[in-house]
Amino acid sequence: MQQITIRRPDDWHLHLRDGAMLQGVLPETTRHFARAIIMPNLVPPVVTGADAAAYRDRILAAIPDGADFTPLMTLYLTEDTDPDDLAAAHASGLVTAVKLYPAGATTNSASGVRDFDKVRPVLERMAEIGCPLCVHGEVTDPDIDIFDREAVFIDRVLDPVRRATPGLRVVMEHITTRDGADYVASNDTDLGATITVQHLVLDRNDMLVGGMRPHYYCLPILKRREHRDALLKAATSGDPRYFLGTDSAPHPTHAKESECCSAGCFTAPNALSILADTFEKAGALDKLEGFTSLHGPAFYGLPVNEDTITLTRGAPVTWPARIETGDGPVTVFDPGFPVHWSVT
Ligand code: NCD
Ligand code: ZN
Ligand code: ZN
Repeated sequence: MQQITIRRPDDWHLHLRDGAMLQGVLPETTRHFARAIIMPNLVPPVVTGADAAAYRDRILAAIPDGADFTPLMTLYLTEDTDPDDLAAAHASGLVTAVKLYPAGATTNSASGVRDFDKVRPVLERMAEIGCPLCVHGEVTDPDIDIFDREAVFIDRVLDPVRRATPGLRVVMEHITTRDGADYVASNDTDLGATITVQHLVLDRNDMLVGGMRPHYYCLPILKRREHRDALLKAATSGDPRYFLGTDSAPHPTHAKESECCSAGCFTAPNALSILADTFEKAGALDKLEGFTSLHGPAFYGLPVNEDTITLTRGAPVTWPARIETGDGPVTVFDPGFPVHWSVT
């Protein structure tokens, strides 16, 4: 029997939703993770310090008894974001980062940014006060093929914004391409990236060959194998600029198994098991702790967690096919291969 003990992980990109869904999914995260960057794409979105305070209170109220979990709140950047409100929320410790969604890029992003010039004053203020910007990095130009949207975003939006705003710390969320990984590698430590579980273990063939698998549909969409390989290389490299953001994004099963499937994979329950398996296969188990537990805190300037978790290798792990929530069942991500590591 093989065991490894690592610092307790954090999730640097997580969707918890609200109400009955929040209640249903939160225990799946608090079981393994100590902290998470909470995505603000509710309907309506979390745009002000007051919204973030109220949402944080609802999350805290939903934490299961005995669990120790700290939600790290974000504000949803709009063209009307008030730099003073943001600065006050950041200074008080309420808000850890600001999230940029190009309008229409993904689930609940209608209030996102259309004209990047309009948010320039906010971005400049963020650079000044050291508040990181988390970015959903895809262009929404209908003429750009969905598989190219991340690469085009880097050239058309991200690089110009970063050049225009020196000192702005940026996290490229859920990178899905070699282009994303390379862009991070070729820049300084002001730029980091989160990587999801599904983008490390799947490519677009897994989603599309032999039938369409809606539970593998997420945004940014799975890319071809060479991109997955580049992400795996980045995640297992030990480079501190890459860290885990599961992007666990619950949708009720009926919304996934539908004529127009919602985007998102629900990986909170088994993310760490799948990652241990994947790092082991890559011969990089010794790099797992950095990716899940050390690099994220370093980027965000936060202490690492004091306690630990132990992963044990044994017979294939099983998990429920779905969890029940007050909003209906949510299907748990199935990587499609046996996973041998369990968290104890
Ligand atoms: C996310 C969601 O459902 O909120 N979906 C997804 O496919 N990743 C939105 C996002 O992170 O872009
Ligand atoms: Zn996103
Ligand atoms: Zn997300």
